[in-house]
Amino acid sequence: MEKHDAAKASPNVLEFKGVSVQFGGVRAVNNVDLTLARGEFLGLIGPNGAGKTTLLNLISGAMPPTSGEILFNGQSIVGISPDRLCHLGISRTFQNIRLFPKMTVFENVALGLHARPNYSLTDALFCTPRSIRREKQNIERANGLLDLVGLSAYAKKHAGDLSYGLQRRLELVRAMATDPQLLLLDEPAAGMNEDECGNLTKLIRSIHQEFGFGVILIEHHIQVVMELCRESRIYVMNLGEILASGTPMEIQNDTKVINAYLGEKRTTNGRTRRQISRNC
Ligand SMILES: Nc1ncnc2c1ncn2[C@@H]1O[C@H](COP(=O)(O)OP(=O)(O)O)[C@@H](O)[C@H]1O
Ligand SMILES: [Mg+2]
Repeated sequence: MEKHDAAKASPNVLEFKGVSVQFGGVRAVNNVDLTLARGEFLGLIGPNGAGKTTLLNLISGAMPPTSGEILFNGQSIVGISPDRLCHLGISRTFQNIRLFPKMTVFENVALGLHARPNYSLTDALFCTPRSIRREKQNIERANGLLDLVGLSAYAKKHAGDLSYGLQRRLELVRAMATDPQLLLLDEPAAGMNEDECGNLTKLIRSIHQEFGFGVILIEHHIQVVMELCRESRIYVMNLGEILASGTPMEIQNDTKVINAYLGEKRTTNGRTRRQISRNC
């Protein structure tokens, strides 16, 4: 099914039905059910080792589930390669930055665009007018995206020479270059200070509002998640399972969530909630 036909077919862009992943004796994901409506912004939090990255790996096709069903636009995507899933509209960033440091900022974004080519190999080989026209559009799109995230001034610099915060921004824009319906963000604010987190939060919000794609955001900086999900939902994972889901307020007051983070029974005082804010 092609990307835009598929988009009309199902109200949910993503659905997990009883999904599990077993690594030897470790059940990294255990019988997870999850839905993401079209254009929804979903937060995914949980302690280290909870299974969050594994869940994103399942969606991006990096690994198949041991059991269960994963539907994208109502169609099973189990066994489909990451390249094909990128074509279908799933894009991601990684917990550890994966840029090409010796290539320029512009080239890194252009690579993202070519992950979903908009002209055929034959067009490219024979330099057809179509390929020339599309390539011009691609260059405009890459420049437009760099402008949008404030990286235009760095377009000709090597990606590896950018500051850490700007490299994170570049990863984000490269993932967006494929024009996704679903964007998976694995700890985009990792290693950032408070100011950088604030700037990234504003950027992600404006991008989401402008492009309207669905987002699943894994993030340890809990203020970033609470802010970005203030009108939507957060799922909390622990030991491979979905422990709770709800609004930011519901999550912060959920006894199971507090216990999972702190390993203790204190639940109602403000100090415990503040500790969650710091520890997530
Ligand atoms: N490729 C793998 N092989 C074996 N075990 C893995 C692999 N990937 C993840 N795990 C294990 O699965 C569990 C969940 O890991 P992960 O999804 O990375 O958690 P999180 O992103 O929430 O920190 C951990 O116990 C981790 O050690
Ligand atoms: Mg992880």
